[in-house]
Amino acid sequence: MKEFTFQSTQKVVFGNKKINNLPQELSNLKAKRPFFVCDPVVSKLEFFKKLTNHLKSTNIEFGIFTDIESDPSFETADKASKAIIDFQSDSVIGIGGGSALDIAKIVAISAKTKETTEQLLQNSENLQSGLPLILIPTTAGTGSEVTHISILSNTKDKTKNGLVSPQLYANIAILDPEITLSLPQNVTAFSGIDAIIHALEALTSKLSTPLTDLLALEALGILHSNILTAFNKPNDIEARGNMLYGSMLAGKAFANSSVAAVHAFAYPIGAEFHIPHGLANSIMLLPVLRFNLEADLNKYAKAASVIGIETKGVPCKEAANQLIIKLDELLNALKIKRYLRFYNVNQSDIPNLAKKVMKITRLMNNNPRAINIEDAEKLYQEAF
Ligand SMILES: NC(=O)c1ccc[n+]([C@@H]2O[C@H](COP(=O)([O-])OP(=O)(O)OC[C@H]3O[C@@H](n4cnc5c(N)ncnc54)[C@H](O)[C@@H]3O)[C@@H](O)[C@H]2O)c1
Ligand SMILES: [Fe+2]
Repeated sequence: MKEFTFQSTQKVVFGNKKINNLPQELSNLKAKRPFFVCDPVVSKLEFFKKLTNHLKSTNIEFGIFTDIESDPSFETADKASKAIIDFQSDSVIGIGGGSALDIAKIVAISAKTKETTEQLLQNSENLQSGLPLILIPTTAGTGSEVTHISILSNTKDKTKNGLVSPQLYANIAILDPEITLSLPQNVTAFSGIDAIIHALEALTSKLSTPLTDLLALEALGILHSNILTAFNKPNDIEARGNMLYGSMLAGKAFANSSVAAVHAFAYPIGAEFHIPHGLANSIMLLPVLRFNLEADLNKYAKAASVIGIETKGVPCKEAANQLIIKLDELLNALKIKRYLRFYNVNQSDIPNLAKKVMKITRLMNNNPRAINIEDAEKLYQEAF
Protein backbone atom coordinates (compact mmCIF):
# COMPACT_ATOMS: atom_id res chain seq x y z
CA MET A 1 0.00 0.00 0.00
CA LYS A 2 1.09 3.57 -0.66
CA GLU A 3 2.74 5.26 2.33
CA PHE A 4 0.99 8.27 3.80
CA THR A 5 0.71 10.76 6.63
CA PHE A 6 -2.68 12.07 7.67
CA GLN A 7 -3.22 15.22 9.71
CA SER A 8 -6.43 16.87 10.76
CA THR A 9 -8.23 19.27 13.07
CA GLN A 10 -8.11 18.06 16.69
CA LYS A 11 -11.82 18.33 17.42
CA VAL A 12 -14.96 18.48 15.27
CA VAL A 13 -18.34 19.09 16.92
CA PHE A 14 -21.34 18.43 14.65
CA GLY A 15 -25.06 18.88 15.23
CA ASN A 16 -28.03 21.25 15.31
CA LYS A 17 -27.66 24.03 17.91
CA LYS A 18 -24.04 23.03 18.59
CA ILE A 19 -23.19 26.71 18.14
CA ASN A 20 -24.47 27.03 21.72
CA ASN A 21 -21.40 25.05 22.83
CA LEU A 22 -19.18 28.02 22.00
CA PRO A 23 -18.90 29.44 25.57
CA GLN A 24 -17.94 25.99 26.86
CA GLU A 25 -15.41 25.46 24.08
CA LEU A 26 -13.87 28.88 24.80
CA SER A 27 -13.63 27.98 28.45
CA ASN A 28 -11.97 24.63 27.54
CA LEU A 29 -9.36 26.65 25.64
CA LYS A 30 -9.03 29.06 28.60
CA ALA A 31 -9.99 31.86 26.24
CA LYS A 32 -11.48 34.92 27.95
CA ARG A 33 -11.16 37.63 25.29
CA PRO A 34 -12.03 36.18 21.89
CA PHE A 35 -12.33 38.10 18.65
CA PHE A 36 -14.98 37.23 16.07
CA VAL A 37 -13.96 37.39 12.43
CA CYS A 38 -16.95 37.37 10.07
CA ASP A 39 -18.44 39.15 7.07
CA PRO A 40 -21.07 41.93 7.20
CA VAL A 41 -23.92 39.63 6.07
CA VAL A 42 -23.24 36.95 8.68
CA SER A 43 -22.86 39.58 11.43
CA LYS A 44 -26.50 40.58 10.84
CA LEU A 45 -27.99 37.07 10.86
CA GLU A 46 -30.33 36.16 13.73
CA PHE A 47 -28.18 33.32 15.05
CA PHE A 48 -25.14 35.60 15.31
CA LYS A 49 -27.06 38.26 17.23
CA LYS A 50 -28.37 35.58 19.64
CA LEU A 51 -24.91 34.13 20.08
CA THR A 52 -23.25 37.45 20.85
CA ASN A 53 -26.12 38.50 23.16
CA HIS A 54 -25.65 35.26 25.05
CA LEU A 55 -21.90 35.88 25.36
CA LYS A 56 -22.59 39.38 26.70
CA SER A 57 -24.45 37.76 29.60
CA THR A 58 -21.31 35.80 30.55
CA ASN A 59 -18.02 37.28 31.73
CA ILE A 60 -16.51 36.89 28.26
CA GLU A 61 -15.49 40.17 26.61
CA PHE A 62 -15.20 39.97 22.87
CA GLY A 63 -14.47 42.05 19.78
CA ILE A 64 -15.88 41.70 16.26
CA PHE A 65 -14.30 42.39 12.85
CA THR A 66 -16.94 42.33 10.12
CA ASP A 67 -15.21 44.02 7.20
CA ILE A 68 -14.56 40.90 5.09
CA GLU A 69 -15.31 40.76 1.39
CA SER A 70 -15.74 37.56 -0.65
CA ASP A 71 -12.39 36.13 -1.82
CA PRO A 72 -10.68 38.44 0.67
CA SER A 73 -7.37 40.24 0.20
CA PHE A 74 -4.06 40.46 2.11
CA GLU A 75 -5.03 44.01 3.13
CA THR A 76 -8.23 42.77 4.78
CA ALA A 77 -6.26 40.19 6.75
CA ASP A 78 -3.84 42.89 7.93
CA LYS A 79 -6.72 45.15 9.00
CA ALA A 80 -8.36 42.30 10.95
CA SER A 81 -5.05 41.43 12.57
CA LYS A 82 -4.55 45.02 13.74
CA ALA A 83 -8.05 45.09 15.27
CA ILE A 84 -7.27 41.91 17.21
CA ILE A 85 -3.94 43.24 18.45
CA ASP A 86 -5.56 46.53 19.53
CA PHE A 87 -8.24 44.63 21.48
CA GLN A 88 -5.58 42.40 23.07
CA SER A 89 -7.55 39.28 22.28
CA ASP A 90 -6.44 35.88 23.47
CA SER A 91 -8.31 33.82 20.84
CA VAL A 92 -9.99 34.01 17.42
CA ILE A 93 -13.41 32.74 16.28
CA GLY A 94 -13.85 32.56 12.51
CA ILE A 95 -17.52 32.35 11.63
CA GLY A 96 -18.83 32.46 8.07
CA GLY A 97 -18.05 31.10 4.65
CA GLY A 98 -14.58 30.21 3.43
CA SER A 99 -13.72 33.90 3.07
CA ALA A 100 -14.14 34.63 6.79
CA LEU A 101 -12.58 31.33 7.89
CA ASP A 102 -9.50 31.88 5.74
CA ILE A 103 -8.96 35.35 7.23
CA ALA A 104 -9.46 33.96 10.76
CA LYS A 105 -6.79 31.30 10.19
CA ILE A 106 -4.20 33.85 9.07
CA VAL A 107 -4.93 36.45 11.72
CA ALA A 108 -4.82 33.92 14.56
CA ILE A 109 -1.12 33.74 13.69
CA SER A 110 -0.38 37.32 12.59
CA ALA A 111 -2.11 38.83 15.63
CA LYS A 112 0.26 36.81 17.82
CA THR A 113 3.49 37.18 15.85
CA LYS A 114 2.70 40.73 14.62
CA GLU A 115 3.78 39.87 11.08
CA THR A 116 2.01 41.08 7.97
CA THR A 117 0.22 38.60 5.71
CA GLU A 118 2.92 39.13 3.09
CA GLN A 119 5.61 38.21 5.65
CA LEU A 120 3.69 35.08 6.66
CA LEU A 121 3.49 34.01 3.02
CA GLN A 122 7.23 34.52 2.56
CA ASN A 123 7.93 32.51 5.68
CA SER A 124 5.29 29.82 5.20
CA GLU A 125 7.69 26.93 5.90
CA ASN A 126 8.40 28.17 9.42
CA LEU A 127 5.15 29.61 10.72
CA GLN A 128 4.81 29.89 14.48
CA SER A 129 1.68 28.74 16.27
CA GLY A 130 -1.12 31.27 16.57
CA LEU A 131 -3.81 32.17 19.10
CA PRO A 132 -6.37 29.45 19.92
CA LEU A 133 -8.72 29.23 16.96
CA ILE A 134 -12.35 28.08 16.65
CA LEU A 135 -13.88 27.85 13.16
CA ILE A 136 -17.63 27.78 12.50
CA PRO A 137 -18.67 27.39 8.84
CA THR A 138 -21.92 28.96 7.64
CA THR A 139 -21.61 27.70 4.05
CA ALA A 140 -21.32 24.07 2.90
CA GLY A 141 -18.80 24.47 1.72
CA THR A 142 -15.22 25.03 1.41
CA GLY A 143 -14.25 22.60 4.17
CA SER A 144 -11.88 25.38 5.28
CA GLU A 145 -12.84 24.65 8.91
CA VAL A 146 -10.79 21.44 8.73
CA THR A 147 -8.02 22.41 6.31
CA HIS A 148 -4.59 23.93 6.96
CA ILE A 149 -4.95 26.19 3.95
CA SER A 150 -5.86 29.84 3.63
CA ILE A 151 -6.56 31.33 0.21
CA LEU A 152 -6.27 35.09 -0.16
CA SER A 153 -6.53 37.41 -3.15
CA ASN A 154 -3.39 39.25 -4.09
CA THR A 155 -4.73 42.55 -5.40
CA LYS A 156 -1.31 43.60 -6.80
CA ASP A 157 -0.91 40.82 -9.35
CA LYS A 158 -4.63 39.90 -9.44
CA THR A 159 -4.23 36.30 -8.47
CA LYS A 160 -4.92 34.14 -5.44
CA ASN A 161 -2.24 32.86 -3.09
CA GLY A 162 -2.56 29.85 -0.85
CA LEU A 163 -0.82 29.74 2.51
CA VAL A 164 -0.41 26.13 3.61
CA SER A 165 0.89 25.17 7.04
CA PRO A 166 -0.06 22.76 9.84
CA GLN A 167 -0.15 25.86 12.08
CA LEU A 168 -3.35 26.87 10.29
CA TYR A 169 -5.39 23.96 11.67
CA ALA A 170 -8.07 25.17 14.06
CA ASN A 171 -8.28 23.82 17.60
CA ILE A 172 -11.99 23.18 17.14
CA ALA A 173 -14.48 23.20 14.28
CA ILE A 174 -18.14 23.56 15.21
CA LEU A 175 -20.56 22.45 12.47
CA ASP A 176 -24.17 23.47 13.08
CA PRO A 177 -26.50 22.77 10.12
CA GLU A 178 -29.14 25.22 11.39
CA ILE A 179 -26.92 28.22 10.72
CA THR A 180 -26.70 27.27 7.04
CA LEU A 181 -30.49 27.44 6.51
CA SER A 182 -30.31 31.12 5.54
CA LEU A 183 -27.92 30.52 2.65
CA PRO A 184 -29.22 32.05 -0.59
CA GLN A 185 -29.82 29.64 -3.47
CA ASN A 186 -26.83 30.76 -5.53
CA VAL A 187 -24.40 30.40 -2.60
CA THR A 188 -25.87 26.95 -1.85
CA ALA A 189 -25.12 25.97 -5.45
CA PHE A 190 -21.64 27.53 -5.70
CA SER A 191 -20.35 26.35 -2.35
CA GLY A 192 -21.95 22.91 -2.78
CA ILE A 193 -20.29 22.43 -6.17
CA ASP A 194 -17.00 23.63 -4.67
CA ALA A 195 -17.27 20.81 -2.11
CA ILE A 196 -18.05 18.26 -4.86
CA ILE A 197 -14.96 19.40 -6.76
CA HIS A 198 -12.84 19.13 -3.60
CA ALA A 199 -13.91 15.49 -3.33
CA LEU A 200 -13.35 14.75 -7.00
CA GLU A 201 -9.95 16.45 -7.17
CA ALA A 202 -8.79 14.90 -3.87
CA LEU A 203 -9.71 11.49 -5.27
CA THR A 204 -7.82 11.91 -8.53
CA SER A 205 -4.87 14.04 -7.36
CA LYS A 206 -1.41 12.53 -7.68
CA LEU A 207 -1.15 12.98 -3.88
CA SER A 208 -4.23 10.86 -3.12
CA THR A 209 -3.88 8.07 -0.55
CA PRO A 210 -6.13 5.17 0.49
CA LEU A 211 -7.45 7.22 3.41
CA THR A 212 -8.14 10.35 1.36
CA ASP A 213 -9.88 8.18 -1.28
CA LEU A 214 -12.17 6.80 1.40
CA LEU A 215 -13.10 10.29 2.60
CA ALA A 216 -13.41 11.70 -0.91
CA LEU A 217 -15.71 8.94 -2.17
CA GLU A 218 -17.93 9.14 0.91
CA ALA A 219 -18.07 12.92 0.59
CA LEU A 220 -18.87 12.79 -3.12
CA GLY A 221 -21.78 10.38 -2.63
CA ILE A 222 -23.29 12.39 0.22
CA LEU A 223 -22.85 15.77 -1.48
CA HIS A 224 -24.21 14.61 -4.82
CA SER A 225 -27.33 13.10 -3.30
CA ASN A 226 -28.14 16.18 -1.18
CA ILE A 227 -27.15 19.23 -3.19
CA LEU A 228 -30.35 19.50 -5.22
CA THR A 229 -32.55 19.10 -2.16
CA ALA A 230 -30.61 21.83 -0.33
CA PHE A 231 -30.90 24.00 -3.46
CA ASN A 232 -34.63 23.44 -4.07
CA LYS A 233 -35.78 23.12 -0.45
CA PRO A 234 -33.58 25.53 1.51
CA ASN A 235 -35.22 24.65 4.84
CA ASP A 236 -34.57 20.91 4.56
CA ILE A 237 -32.40 20.55 7.65
CA GLU A 238 -31.44 16.96 6.85
CA ALA A 239 -30.05 17.94 3.43
CA ARG A 240 -28.32 21.00 4.93
CA GLY A 241 -26.70 18.79 7.57
CA ASN A 242 -25.58 16.29 4.96
CA MET A 243 -24.06 19.06 2.84
CA LEU A 244 -22.16 20.41 5.87
CA TYR A 245 -20.95 16.93 6.81
CA GLY A 246 -19.97 16.07 3.23
CA SER A 247 -18.06 19.30 2.73
CA MET A 248 -16.15 18.70 5.97
CA LEU A 249 -15.21 15.17 4.79
CA ALA A 250 -14.09 16.56 1.44
CA GLY A 251 -12.03 19.18 3.32
CA LYS A 252 -10.24 16.47 5.29
CA ALA A 253 -9.63 14.60 2.04
CA PHE A 254 -8.10 17.46 0.04
CA ALA A 255 -6.13 18.79 3.02
CA ASN A 256 -4.24 15.49 2.96
CA SER A 257 -4.34 14.89 -0.79
CA SER A 258 -4.82 18.11 -2.76
CA VAL A 259 -7.04 19.86 -5.23
CA ALA A 260 -5.71 20.20 -8.75
CA ALA A 261 -6.29 21.83 -12.13
CA VAL A 262 -9.97 22.79 -11.73
CA HIS A 263 -8.98 24.94 -8.74
CA ALA A 264 -5.82 26.20 -10.40
CA PHE A 265 -7.77 27.39 -13.46
CA ALA A 266 -10.43 28.94 -11.24
CA TYR A 267 -7.99 31.15 -9.28
CA PRO A 268 -6.92 33.61 -12.02
CA ILE A 269 -10.51 34.11 -13.22
CA GLY A 270 -11.75 34.52 -9.64
CA ALA A 271 -9.12 37.09 -8.75
CA GLU A 272 -9.18 39.05 -12.01
CA PHE A 273 -12.89 39.06 -12.82
CA HIS A 274 -14.33 38.76 -9.29
CA ILE A 275 -16.10 35.51 -10.09
CA PRO A 276 -17.06 33.73 -6.82
CA HIS A 277 -14.88 30.72 -6.06
CA GLY A 278 -17.54 28.02 -6.50
CA LEU A 279 -18.79 29.58 -9.72
CA ALA A 280 -15.26 29.84 -11.12
CA ASN A 281 -14.79 26.15 -10.30
CA SER A 282 -18.12 25.27 -11.96
CA ILE A 283 -17.01 27.06 -15.13
CA MET A 284 -13.77 25.07 -15.30
CA LEU A 285 -15.06 21.69 -14.08
CA LEU A 286 -16.14 19.99 -17.29
CA PRO A 287 -13.37 21.28 -19.59
CA VAL A 288 -10.73 20.05 -17.11
CA LEU A 289 -12.57 16.79 -16.44
CA ARG A 290 -12.83 15.94 -20.15
CA PHE A 291 -9.09 16.65 -20.50
CA ASN A 292 -8.17 14.56 -17.44
CA LEU A 293 -10.45 11.59 -17.99
CA GLU A 294 -8.07 9.22 -19.79
CA ALA A 295 -5.37 9.79 -17.15
CA ASP A 296 -7.23 7.89 -14.42
CA LEU A 297 -10.29 6.08 -15.80
CA ASN A 298 -10.37 3.77 -12.83
CA LYS A 299 -10.74 6.59 -10.28
CA TYR A 300 -13.30 8.47 -12.37
CA ALA A 301 -15.30 5.24 -12.71
CA LYS A 302 -15.24 4.90 -8.90
CA ALA A 303 -16.52 8.47 -8.64
CA ALA A 304 -19.29 7.55 -11.09
CA SER A 305 -20.36 4.60 -8.97
CA VAL A 306 -20.81 6.69 -5.79
CA ILE A 307 -23.07 9.19 -7.55
CA GLY A 308 -25.49 6.47 -8.58
CA ILE A 309 -24.22 5.42 -12.02
CA GLU A 310 -24.46 1.67 -12.65
CA THR A 311 -20.85 0.57 -13.11
CA LYS A 312 -21.08 -3.22 -12.64
CA GLY A 313 -19.79 -4.87 -15.80
CA VAL A 314 -19.43 -1.44 -17.45
CA PRO A 315 -15.97 -0.55 -18.88
CA CYS A 316 -14.25 2.19 -16.85
CA LYS A 317 -14.20 4.52 -19.84
CA GLU A 318 -17.96 4.27 -20.29
CA ALA A 319 -18.57 4.82 -16.55
CA ALA A 320 -16.20 7.82 -16.53
CA ASN A 321 -18.04 9.34 -19.51
CA GLN A 322 -21.31 8.88 -17.65
CA LEU A 323 -19.79 10.86 -14.76
CA ILE A 324 -19.32 13.85 -17.06
CA ILE A 325 -22.90 13.58 -18.32
CA LYS A 326 -24.27 13.45 -14.76
CA LEU A 327 -22.20 16.43 -13.61
CA ASP A 328 -23.32 18.38 -16.67
CA GLU A 329 -26.95 17.66 -15.73
CA LEU A 330 -26.26 18.71 -12.14
CA LEU A 331 -24.74 22.07 -13.15
CA ASN A 332 -27.79 22.70 -15.36
CA ALA A 333 -30.20 21.77 -12.55
CA LEU A 334 -28.36 24.25 -10.31
CA LYS A 335 -28.92 26.92 -13.00
CA ILE A 336 -25.24 27.82 -13.12
CA LYS A 337 -24.30 30.00 -16.12
CA ARG A 338 -20.93 28.47 -16.71
CA TYR A 339 -19.19 30.22 -19.56
CA LEU A 340 -16.50 32.86 -19.14
CA ARG A 341 -18.06 35.12 -21.77
CA PHE A 342 -20.96 35.84 -19.38
CA TYR A 343 -18.60 37.41 -16.84
CA ASN A 344 -16.81 40.22 -18.72
CA VAL A 345 -13.99 37.95 -19.84
CA ASN A 346 -12.82 38.60 -23.41
CA GLN A 347 -11.19 36.08 -25.68
CA SER A 348 -8.10 38.33 -25.71
CA ASP A 349 -7.73 37.73 -21.93
CA ILE A 350 -7.11 34.02 -22.43
CA PRO A 351 -3.32 34.05 -23.12
CA ASN A 352 -2.72 36.04 -19.93
CA LEU A 353 -4.98 33.73 -17.88
CA ALA A 354 -3.13 30.72 -19.29
CA LYS A 355 0.24 32.23 -18.29
CA LYS A 356 -1.06 32.81 -14.77
CA VAL A 357 -2.43 29.30 -14.31
CA MET A 358 0.87 27.73 -15.38
CA LYS A 359 2.48 29.47 -12.38
CA ILE A 360 0.15 27.75 -9.90
CA THR A 361 2.47 24.77 -9.65
CA ARG A 362 1.28 23.98 -6.09
CA LEU A 363 -1.90 22.62 -7.69
CA MET A 364 -0.99 21.99 -11.34
CA ASN A 365 1.72 19.50 -10.35
CA ASN A 366 -0.90 17.30 -8.67
CA ASN A 367 -3.24 17.10 -11.63
CA PRO A 368 -3.62 13.53 -12.93
CA ARG A 369 -2.60 14.69 -16.42
CA ALA A 370 0.24 17.11 -17.21
CA ILE A 371 -0.92 20.42 -18.70
CA ASN A 372 1.22 22.70 -20.90
CA ILE A 373 0.58 26.31 -21.87
CA GLU A 374 -1.13 25.35 -25.15
CA ASP A 375 -3.46 22.98 -23.26
CA ALA A 376 -4.16 25.74 -20.75
CA GLU A 377 -5.22 28.16 -23.50
CA LYS A 378 -7.42 25.47 -25.05
CA LEU A 379 -9.09 24.74 -21.71
CA TYR A 380 -9.88 28.41 -21.08
CA GLN A 381 -11.09 28.61 -24.68
CA GLU A 382 -13.40 25.67 -24.08
CA ALA A 383 -14.76 27.40 -20.97
CA PHE A 384 -15.25 30.63 -22.88
N1 LIG B 1 -9.07 27.28 2.93
C1 LIG B 1 -9.61 26.38 2.21
O1 LIG B 1 -9.35 25.19 2.40
C2 LIG B 1 -10.55 26.79 1.12
C3 LIG B 1 -11.17 25.83 0.34
C4 LIG B 1 -12.05 26.26 -0.65
C5 LIG B 1 -12.31 27.61 -0.83
N2 LIG B 1 -11.66 28.52 -0.06
C6 LIG B 1 -11.91 29.97 -0.21
O2 LIG B 1 -13.16 30.27 0.39
C7 LIG B 1 -13.73 31.41 -0.25
C8 LIG B 1 -15.13 31.11 -0.68
O3 LIG B 1 -15.90 30.75 0.43
P1 LIG B 1 -17.47 30.47 0.32
O4 LIG B 1 -17.78 29.77 -0.94
O5 LIG B 1 -17.89 29.84 1.58
O6 LIG B 1 -18.10 31.93 0.14
P2 LIG B 1 -17.97 33.28 1.01
O7 LIG B 1 -17.37 33.06 2.34
O8 LIG B 1 -17.33 34.30 0.15
O9 LIG B 1 -19.53 33.63 1.21
C9 LIG B 1 -20.35 33.85 0.09
C10 LIG B 1 -21.53 34.72 0.47
O10 LIG B 1 -22.42 33.99 1.31
C11 LIG B 1 -22.80 34.77 2.44
N3 LIG B 1 -23.10 33.84 3.53
C12 LIG B 1 -22.26 32.99 4.15
N4 LIG B 1 -22.93 32.24 5.05
C13 LIG B 1 -24.23 32.63 5.00
C14 LIG B 1 -25.42 32.19 5.66
N5 LIG B 1 -25.42 31.21 6.55
N6 LIG B 1 -26.57 32.82 5.34
C15 LIG B 1 -26.62 33.81 4.39
N7 LIG B 1 -25.53 34.24 3.72
C16 LIG B 1 -24.36 33.65 4.02
C17 LIG B 1 -21.59 35.65 2.68
O11 LIG B 1 -21.95 36.80 3.39
C18 LIG B 1 -21.15 35.97 1.26
O12 LIG B 1 -21.89 37.06 0.76
C19 LIG B 1 -12.82 31.74 -1.43
O13 LIG B 1 -11.94 32.79 -1.09
C20 LIG B 1 -12.05 30.45 -1.64
O14 LIG B 1 -10.81 30.64 -2.27
C21 LIG B 1 -10.82 28.12 0.91
FE1 LIG C 1 -12.53 25.13 -3.45
